Amino acid sequence: MQPWPYPYLFAHRGGGRLAPENTLAGMATAVQYGYGAVEFDVKLSRDGVSFLLHDDTLPRTSNGQGLAATQDIAALSRLDAGSWFAPRFAGEPLPSFATIAAYCRAHRLLANVEIKPCPGREAETGREVARLAAELWQGHPAPPLLSSFAWEALLAARDAAPQLPRGWLIEEQWPADWPARLAELQAVSLHSDHLLLTAERVAAVRAAGYRVLAYTVNDPARAAELRQWGVDGIFTDALDVIRP
Ligand code: G3P
Ligand code: MG
Repeated sequence: MQPWPYPYLFAHRGGGRLAPENTLAGMATAVQYGYGAVEFDVKLSRDGVSFLLHDDTLPRTSNGQGLAATQDIAALSRLDAGSWFAPRFAGEPLPSFATIAAYCRAHRLLANVEIKPCPGREAETGREVARLAAELWQGHPAPPLLSSFAWEALLAARDAAPQLPRGWLIEEQWPADWPARLAELQAVSLHSDHLLLTAERVAAVRAAGYRVLAYTVNDPARAAELRQWGVDGIFTDALDVIRP
């Protein structure tokens, strides 16, 4: 297995349940709770700029309307991505990927960049996010770990920045073809819904030379069990309960 610079705990979407997801305030919360790594979701604006957002649409986590893919970065940058969560986060901006990368580097936070393309823009998003990630972390000892559910995005990321580590995200069903998929992707890791994992599956993937990461784990007992099975990392929202 390749060297693995990442800690066991990744703060999910930045600050997990303690701060508005995918914001600078979330990343600051991860630092405050002693986390050494964060996961966040990146997609492209209409004009092709990488920014943080989980959903395809804006209203759940900002005061914007409609599809994220229909807006330019200038408009997205003016949105309030904090008020929906709590009044004390009012005015928290919807951040660009470049802003968050600079924060991570300055605060020694390692990053798992989940490529979350708007529908129909999978390859373009994978290519651009990987290209920019390579640029933003150039010269840094621990590169960002790229991951995605979107296969096309991952292949495009592989071709655009082969030197960056990649993980394949899976949900709903354990893929029988995981050895072929991880080999094709030249992946370093498999990122699974923790409910799909068993001790045997973890052991098989690790024996094949890949790391195993599990999302989203909010119960400390489950976090400990997964660790005992050999899982290499978990994504958690419970920063206040699962402490580094
Ligand atoms: O990358 C792990 C996890 O974030 C995947 O699910 O929907 O929270 O992005 P989601
Ligand atoms: Mg995610």
